[in-house]
Amino acid sequence: MNKYEIAVVPGDGIGNEVIPASIKVLDVLAVTFGFQLAYKHYDYSCKNFAKVGKMMPDDGLEKLRDCDSIFLGAVGYPGVPDHISLWGLLIPIRRAFDQYINLRPVRLLKGVDSPLKNIGNVDYMIVRENSEGEYSNIGGRFNEGTENEMVKQESIFTKKGVDRVMKYAFELAQKRNNKITSATKSNGIIHTMTYWDERFKEIGTAYPNVEKNQFHIDILCAHFVQHPEWFDVVVASNLFGDILSDLGPAVVGGIGIAAGGNINPEKIFPSMFEPVHGSAPDIAGKNIANPIACFWTGAMMLAHLGELEAAKLLMDAIETLTFSRKVLTRDLGGTATTTEVTNELINIIKNNSFIKI
Ligand code: NAD
Ligand code: IPM
Ligand code: MN
Repeated sequence: MNKYEIAVVPGDGIGNEVIPASIKVLDVLAVTFGFQLAYKHYDYSCKNFAKVGKMMPDDGLEKLRDCDSIFLGAVGYPGVPDHISLWGLLIPIRRAFDQYINLRPVRLLKGVDSPLKNIGNVDYMIVRENSEGEYSNIGGRFNEGTENEMVKQESIFTKKGVDRVMKYAFELAQKRNNKITSATKSNGIIHTMTYWDERFKEIGTAYPNVEKNQFHIDILCAHFVQHPEWFDVVVASNLFGDILSDLGPAVVGGIGIAAGGNINPEKIFPSMFEPVHGSAPDIAGKNIANPIACFWTGAMMLAHLGELEAAKLLMDAIETLTFSRKVLTRDLGGTATTTEVTNELINIIKNNSFIKI
């Protein structure tokens, strides 16, 4: 029997609701498909920060290093400045384990209402650079508190960093529909973004069959809303990818269903699976968070671990749930609680009551 060690970091806010809900679902799949999930829970969080002044202990990363995957809820909560909490936990994990791909699917699930009046078939993947770019800690303040105060924040785009995200995206496009779109802004950002375009072109020469497009980020945002069916694989820098991966899902049901994985493709280090959303302090503790983003994230983790059938079944169960529209949380127009949605999904799996879609 295959056995996987999962490091679980529920983190803050609704992370503590959607992660336990997802574990219930994963456990049912483990029994159904005959594999074992061994969880180790870590309370790295803003609560921990309040107690000991750190988001995680000094050996916090070491503790995660040997697991097969990390399953994380969300990080950040009022009371701890966001740059302290995120640079004390989420970003160090992404960097220490070289999770340089942030893979975020955008797909219109059957039964989910889009805010758009007319919407076709939407199914694309955002490949976000996850280790450098605009998210660098190079910079600082100078002449603080004086009239000459200045602040500087450097963007870092390395050849290695850009090329590897491009290659990953092109390979993915080849496995899908041979279509790729690059998010740029080389009309305004003349050093890093022209380099981004150059590398896109150069790496693309090895993929002659892949249809290549690029848009400046401003009009790309408009196309994400007006023509979401155009896209198949979208490759973007860290910041652009971050923004696009809230916008893309907004058109197909919202942040409550947006899944993601922080991937180390070489599998030298564990990858980390976390929904796109944050800790949602406004609804935390109310049992109303939509757990679908985290379920879908769990499916991505199962696929990464090699449990492809279980991953597929979980996705079918999620889509049966949305298609029937009976038990949905309020962000999707329902009235159900997190617990009710979780139980309904488990019923679908256990009773094998999949709707043929
Ligand atoms: P957020 O994603 O937490 O919430 C944005 C809005 O979406 C809120 O109204 C929230 O209620 C709603 N929402 C989010 N997830 C939902 C779900 N599953 N079901 C229903 N509604 C949902 O973003 P924010 O408010 O900008 O950030 C809150 C905190 O989370 C901040 O500290 C931020 O830095 C952090 N954050 C962390 C991550 C992460 O850990 N990956 C991602 C984004 C934000
Ligand atoms: C995300 C989040 C994080 C990011 C923040 C919380 C640092 O918004 O995972 O999308 O920008 O990477
Ligand atoms: Mn984000």
